[in-house]
Amino acid sequence: MKKGATGPTTYRSEYIAFGWRLERVRLRFDIGEDATLVHSELLLHRQHVEGTTQDLVLHGQELELLEVVVDGQALSQEAYRCDADQLVIPALPDRCTLNLSVRIKPQENSALEGLYACGNFMLTQCEAEGFRKITYFPDRPDVMTTYEVTIEADRNRYPVLLSNGNRVDSGETEDNRHWVTWHDPFPKPCYLFALVAGDLAHIEDEFVTASTRRVTLRVYVEHRNIDRCRHAMDSLIKSMRWDEERFGLEYDLDVYNVVATDDFNMGAMENKSLNIFNSKYVLARPDTATDADYQAIEGVIGHEYFHNWTGNRVTCRDWFQLTLKEGLTVFRDQEFSADMQSRAVQRIQDVRVLRNRQFPEDAGPMSHPIRPDEYVEVNNFYTMTVYQKGATIIRMFHTILGEEGFQKGMKLYFERHDGQAVTCDDFIAAMADANDTNLAAFGRWYQQSGTPQLTVTSRYDADLREYTLSIRQHTPPTQDQPDKVPLVIPLRMGLLGSDGAALPLQLAGEAADASVSADRLFLLHEEKESITFVNVDEAPVPSLLREFSAPVKLSYDYSDADLALLMARDSDTFVRWEAAQLLAQKGILDQVAQLASGKKMQMPEAIVQAFSKLVADGETDPALIAEALILPSEEYLAEQMDTVDVDGIFAAREFTKSLFAQRLWPALVQRYAVLNDGIPYAKTAEAVSRRRLKNVLLAYLVTQPDGQQYAEQQLRASDNMTDTLAALRSLVMCGSAVKDEALSEFEDRWSDDPLVTDKWFSLQAMVPGPGTAAQVKRLMGHAAFSIRNPNKVRALLGVFSMSNPTGFHTRSGDGYALVADQVIELNAINPQMAARTVSAFNQWRRYDDNRSTLMREQLQRIADIDGLSPDVGEIVANALET
Ligand code: TRP
Ligand code: ZN
Repeated sequence: MKKGATGPTTYRSEYIAFGWRLERVRLRFDIGEDATLVHSELLLHRQHVEGTTQDLVLHGQELELLEVVVDGQALSQEAYRCDADQLVIPALPDRCTLNLSVRIKPQENSALEGLYACGNFMLTQCEAEGFRKITYFPDRPDVMTTYEVTIEADRNRYPVLLSNGNRVDSGETEDNRHWVTWHDPFPKPCYLFALVAGDLAHIEDEFVTASTRRVTLRVYVEHRNIDRCRHAMDSLIKSMRWDEERFGLEYDLDVYNVVATDDFNMGAMENKSLNIFNSKYVLARPDTATDADYQAIEGVIGHEYFHNWTGNRVTCRDWFQLTLKEGLTVFRDQEFSADMQSRAVQRIQDVRVLRNRQFPEDAGPMSHPIRPDEYVEVNNFYTMTVYQKGATIIRMFHTILGEEGFQKGMKLYFERHDGQAVTCDDFIAAMADANDTNLAAFGRWYQQSGTPQLTVTSRYDADLREYTLSIRQHTPPTQDQPDKVPLVIPLRMGLLGSDGAALPLQLAGEAADASVSADRLFLLHEEKESITFVNVDEAPVPSLLREFSAPVKLSYDYSDADLALLMARDSDTFVRWEAAQLLAQKGILDQVAQLASGKKMQMPEAIVQAFSKLVADGETDPALIAEALILPSEEYLAEQMDTVDVDGIFAAREFTKSLFAQRLWPALVQRYAVLNDGIPYAKTAEAVSRRRLKNVLLAYLVTQPDGQQYAEQQLRASDNMTDTLAALRSLVMCGSAVKDEALSEFEDRWSDDPLVTDKWFSLQAMVPGPGTAAQVKRLMGHAAFSIRNPNKVRALLGVFSMSNPTGFHTRSGDGYALVADQVIELNAINPQMAARTVSAFNQWRRYDDNRSTLMREQLQRIADIDGLSPDVGEIVANALET
């Protein structure tokens, strides 16, 4: 056991295959008032695997074992061993049929893992290791088999009975009960099993696949939500079409069901043909969901659908390979969204998530490679690293091999591994073999944690007309891995002349015309490399890391003028956006330093001018201008400092917002007026883009007393949630005199709507300053709040601790105490949520002595409680490790 942890460690190197083949499984669920009986029948065939015992070892937790029957003979209690985690049956014949009966209590399951109740229906969540809370079973992803599932329940309470695959039979029994049998012909691991039982409404549509299979599509929701399903359905149809067109992948069954639930630990789950979704990623109507919600729904519906091939048809051998399905599927959903919406905006948003959330994770106590080497609790490894960094590593395969080469690799991957449980190495091998190339060195990205730093310097020789870039890569040591090696880093770049025109990129020894190109990709392998361009007529401005071609931190000593040029003229939209961010970042961080040394804040004129041009830019997509106008987040600015100056960052960022508003006032007012056109709500890309810029402008306007009227007017006139929420947020953030009235009107209007109420909670949890801890505590007493509901916990505590630095890090320590109290309460209710919540303390070492001491004390207090779950125990042990 790892020091301080509350459970044993599992190591990747210790993988051993299961000693039995599971030929098929039959399940029967007898759903009752306060307990459910689960009968299982497993057809087993012994495999000779070195290192395994002769005994059959099945996982199981919180089960009441009623009966064990082998080949029709009930076993006496002496014939097997059963403890809190497993059932061990020795001396079985090589081939046998095992029948088990267990009793479970789904109504008492607050961990939302296994079979649990949500309102008046029941559902399952089995990934990663929840199936063992349903029955004794080899709960590991490399045991794949076919399932036949019968569900029996009261006809009135549970009219809808769903499981994976095709509905093959149904009937009625006495006592007003009925049953349905489902059969899934595709072998699958148990983490993809699902069951739903209850009184749900649905909408239905159809998709005809490229090979003319007719697929019935259904979205199931609670009756009151039936008018909010259409967007999810449309997104599903788009996903199915896109996967055929872009990846040549078709759906493989006759039904596809999506079920929405209010009580869910994560976003959604890709169970074979029976996806289960957090209702946040299904339900949408223009008056209840923002444009961002609509886009998130499209992305998550796509993500779960794409898992059908990348995750389900080809699955993971063990949970260390999680990024095999998650990194790849996030890449696929990002590409889907890029093809459906704006590729440029999508890229910026994906990079923002990676840098704001994954970079800090990788620099903190939970640092791990995308394929970890060890874990205590696998649920703690559904991380930004496995998902988001994993996706950028798949993206680098794509960058290096090109679309065609990448698709050849995917094709070979499916040819070789359809129906199997495989490893990341199998994926890399398919990519390499299909392209007849060696990707061994690139594969180090799977082993090494931490964010590489690229330090670039340049030299222009006017006499020789040569321009040389010297590049050094260095990955700082991380808590899990002190020693680092150089990685293969794809660097996409160009050069700009002083007029902004692209310069030719000719290397020594290359013929002049063949190489003349505005954009080149270099693969860096060594710690130090240099690239020399010849026939360069003037000292250029380098445009580096176009499209964010690798997940690295880049440093190059740009002048303000260089950045202004890149921002205005580069051909790559990512670099244009990045230049704006860098300019703002420089400006803000300089003010943080000014403040710290007791000086007055001021902003260089070049920065103001560059932003002024942005506001006036009538050519560029308004959504892109909006992205550029959003100042770097407090968390990202914090990342740039050795010791985080919470208050300095906040003050300098507010100062900058307000100064831009003052200096650009007429242009802001005018552009806002043009965008605030009074045209009724539309869902088109153009309308979304315009709303986005309008609302970013509004956030600037309300920093000035004269600007608050715009938010008040917008709130009154709005016919959609995007504009309503932006106006309300603006009023709340600027501390407007009418904010309380506006908040309570909003509260009354939406009191019976849990998802909109979450927005209301979040808004208040975001209010900066020392008073918010007390306000969050008050709101936890609100009738609509429940600590048992993960969306509520995220809306209040998640937002407060992760997105409100001056609130959470308030000097008194009230924010820390509040969050720690809730972690302790959640630990006993829902360990997964408790572990996610306690992660807010992971960065404790990066703060001043006062704050870091207070945070460490809370971590220690949590570490010392009785009954600490392995989930929380692992996070806290890593955070406290010296
Ligand atoms: N596989 C899910 C996804 O699409 C993740 C997931 C959903 C999950 N629910 C979970 C992971 C519960 C762990 C626990 O990304
Ligand atoms: Zn996923």
